Amino acid sequence: MGSLRTQVGIIGAGPSGLALAQLLQLAGVDSVVLERRSRDYVLGRVRAGVIEQGTVEILRRAGVARRLEREGLIHHGVEIAAGERCHRIDFTAQSGSVTVYGQTELTKDLMDARDAGGAPPVFEVDGVVLEDIDRERPRLRYTRGGKANVLECDFIAGCDGFHGVSRKAIPAAVLKTHERVYPFGWLGVLAEAPPVSSELIYLSHERGFALCSMRSATRSRCYLQCELDTNIGDWSDERFWDELASRLPAELAGRVVRAPTIEKSVAPLRSFVAEPLRYGRLFLAGDAAHIVPPTGAKGLNLAIRDVDQLAAALVAHYAERRDDLLDAYSASALRRIWRAERFSAWLTSVLHRYPGRTSFDRGMQLAELDHLVSSAVARAAFVEAYTGF
Ligand code: FAD
Ligand code: PHB
Repeated sequence: MGSLRTQVGIIGAGPSGLALAQLLQLAGVDSVVLERRSRDYVLGRVRAGVIEQGTVEILRRAGVARRLEREGLIHHGVEIAAGERCHRIDFTAQSGSVTVYGQTELTKDLMDARDAGGAPPVFEVDGVVLEDIDRERPRLRYTRGGKANVLECDFIAGCDGFHGVSRKAIPAAVLKTHERVYPFGWLGVLAEAPPVSSELIYLSHERGFALCSMRSATRSRCYLQCELDTNIGDWSDERFWDELASRLPAELAGRVVRAPTIEKSVAPLRSFVAEPLRYGRLFLAGDAAHIVPPTGAKGLNLAIRDVDQLAAALVAHYAERRDDLLDAYSASALRRIWRAERFSAWLTSVLHRYPGRTSFDRGMQLAELDHLVSSAVARAAFVEAYTGF
């Protein structure tokens, strides 16, 4: 059996696990990242696209923002469309902005930094088990290439996403979970086609929500609200673009470029919060701890903020022998998480078509959107939440 020792054992090489390892290394704290999938699989996943300014600042501090700042698209507003009406919400009055940069690219930048730091993740590990998380010396057991291994740690960071093992290691009597499952999903495509507009367009339509986003001036990322049991095989590229055009105001529909798609996937929508985020020497961060529906573009941003806070707390433990930040992690992160949950659930509820929605419910949605675009106070609250509190 192989035996290794580190200060922080990190489960998961998504954005949260990789960024945590990077922030710890810069402060002289050792870690080992264990990842179930292969490097190519992790680097191939297409997910988030909108990065808050506060997240950019953390990534800059982590030394991984150079390409993001060169290639990312800075946006100073978004469009909200309902039926034939389209309104721009401007961020500049509040000095707000977001950067459009794919999570795929950010993951590559983080992975490159781990390689350059001489500590790449350990890929393709199986059967990770957490042991003695409520004792001084917790352990991670796993197998790799058929060989059993044990990683002795001071702390364990559960950065293994919603379906990971770390949250499940917290005893049921301690862990509380709060969840809302939505009766629809998002069908997303990536295509080598110029975006419909230079800014993101969030659409509330009788036929359902749609989103026109992008990865660059020549690459579109678009989503349609879809049924949970949607079969991707039923969605030819032509059908996708036709449906998207049918949900856009006529003037914008004409701008849809029907290019072949490079990627197509369905994601269910969920709101979820686990608490506490700490049990003994285990700390949860990112999607392992919480899920937001993607409407508010908050998931990746929350994950990076979680690990920034956790890294600071771990560094204080080692460098200053202080544990107050570790003790405060769960409560203080949860407050920030619940605020992002509120915004994401609200934006989801006003933009999507719900089964059984009455004409009154639709009237309420349109009134919310009208209030949002016509009240300076409502716009300011939206900009504050969307661009990062
Ligand atoms: P993950 O990215 O899920 O990474 C967890 C890692 O742990 C994975 O690599 C997994 O393979 C690994 N793992 C799991 N189990 C184990 C195990 N047992 N052992 C070892 N490793 C394991 N967020 C935004 O901020 N802005 C957006 O615009 C946005 N858009 C989105 C659009 C879509 C369609 C989706 C689906 C999500 C979007 N998100 C967005 C959310 C964002 O992608 C996630 O919040 C983010 O990936 C969370 O990162 P993470 O590292 O915590 O988890
Ligand atoms: C994306 O570009 O993938 C994206 C943008 C905004 C969202 C969700 C996803 O709210």
